[in-house]
Amino acid sequence: MIGELEAALRGAAAAAGVADGDFMPGVRTSDPRHGDFQANGVLAAAKKAGRPPRPLAEAIVARLGPDVREAFDVSVAGPGFVNFAARPALLLAWLRAHTSPDDLARGAAAAHAGETWVVDYSSPNSAKQMHVGHLRSAVIGEAISRLVSFTGARVVRDNHVGDWGTQYGKLIWAYKRHLDGPALGRDPLEEFERLYKLGNAAAESDPAVMEEARAELVRLQAGDAANTEIWRRINEASLASFQGIYERLGIRFDVTLGESFYNDKVEAVYSGLSGSGVSSESQGAQVVFHPEHPRFKTQPLIVRKSDGAANYATTDLATILYRCEHFRAGVILYVVDKRQSDHFEQLFLTARKWFERTGRALPRLEHVDFGTVLGENGKPLRTRTGDNVRLRDLLDEAAERAFDLVTKKSPEFPEDERRAIAEVVGVGSVQYADLSQNRSSDYVFSWEKMISLEGNTAAYLLYALARIRSIFRKGGLECPDPAAEAAADAPATPGEAALARKLLKFADSVRLATETLSPHFLCLYLYELAGEFSTFYGADKVIVDDPVVRARRLMLCSRTLLVMETGLGLLGLRTLGRM
Ligand code: ARG
Repeated sequence: MIGELEAALRGAAAAAGVADGDFMPGVRTSDPRHGDFQANGVLAAAKKAGRPPRPLAEAIVARLGPDVREAFDVSVAGPGFVNFAARPALLLAWLRAHTSPDDLARGAAAAHAGETWVVDYSSPNSAKQMHVGHLRSAVIGEAISRLVSFTGARVVRDNHVGDWGTQYGKLIWAYKRHLDGPALGRDPLEEFERLYKLGNAAAESDPAVMEEARAELVRLQAGDAANTEIWRRINEASLASFQGIYERLGIRFDVTLGESFYNDKVEAVYSGLSGSGVSSESQGAQVVFHPEHPRFKTQPLIVRKSDGAANYATTDLATILYRCEHFRAGVILYVVDKRQSDHFEQLFLTARKWFERTGRALPRLEHVDFGTVLGENGKPLRTRTGDNVRLRDLLDEAAERAFDLVTKKSPEFPEDERRAIAEVVGVGSVQYADLSQNRSSDYVFSWEKMISLEGNTAAYLLYALARIRSIFRKGGLECPDPAAEAAADAPATPGEAALARKLLKFADSVRLATETLSPHFLCLYLYELAGEFSTFYGADKVIVDDPVVRARRLMLCSRTLLVMETGLGLLGLRTLGRM
């Protein structure tokens, strides 16, 4: 809706004599007391043109086309804001036009439709368990992928697994000497972690072991068959274990191109950077200085270590080139902890120079950062013994706690159904608690707050949704029912109108969440929508005798269900028939 209103205002402003480039309409959804949308752009345009703002706003409003005037009650407020309040006819038209997820997607289509976006997320290191530090990238990356795809881009979901690096020397050393076969069968990652710790400790205390570990690494890097086979097994088992988590979180990658995939693609980085004069040599290493940057003018990005080896940055540069050439990426998003922001800033600066000097088009590169998950003590969340909290244990506990909630709420449901519901509620609560925060901030992980039917929580929303489903189920009614809806007229009571006006803003909230890569905007929208539904449902009886009133109320229920279901789906949550 915002896009349409901005276009209409631009046209009207031009007709009122405002130069085209001088006018940014600045339409936003607004507090319902000020209509549904508000434009604040006339103020700046008036200032620029040296005209008094209020009369200019009135002149612009007078030149709005009849379609806008029919759809909205338009008024000028304060010093020159333009307020738009949706008229009942528009609300009815919206309700009639949106009966499927595809209709909602069409309404939300953004300017990036047709572009290819690569989303690099989750991307854990192999041979280690996923822990709570891996939660945010997976959950936020999945939601953003869904949002970007829903609004029209082609999305390539790429799990850039850390499956290569110097740790393999010690790991292979220990694997060859200390592997515990049965333990490997029980829990491979646990065994790899044990082996790595063992190899690391041995190498730290004994220079001979350190030498042997180094030799194992060199053999692996040279393609030695035995070491390559061990490495392959470690990665295969790691990915299989990650897969269990991804399934619970509803994550499916299009490609999993780990760091090792780029081993044969780093030569192009070395030669490209030196050939174009972007890199220089410093103490035997190949480095890139950025003289224009306060820190990176003295702290270069190392792209090739003095021993000739590639590193994290080299691989990332090769990855950018590959994503451009192979996927034709227009945008690459990196959903990674904000502690890596220096790495990405330096990487993007380097890629830009490299691409510019070699005549390549650089895609938009963006570090979608996020803060840390904290314990109630304000420090990064850990177990009581000070270890990292395993993601698997965290999700298990969430399901366990949700089981108590579900049992309290619906003790009459059979136990296996309560277990199945608890998995959806528990995992959804963890996802939602993460997504509903501004992603750049740290947040405190609190079981009590997150697994609760009160507040902006998954359980509250899932319950609201299940309750709407039950209206249709108990009445034996279709949802939606086009034949019955044909009788519906426009929203009339305050509860109906407020709910319909909130529904109208779904696409704008999806766009806002997508443009800012901030799913919490969608969470907030869904929470408010559930609140409007609850007010409506408390005030207006749905199943009444009057066929017209009943049809329009059922239509509102059906659309609320559609929007909630679609919205929660975009966040990566599963929903329930009953709860
Ligand atoms: N494996 C890295 C880590 O665990 C994250 C990789 C993020 N993606 C990237 N292209 N650098 O810290």
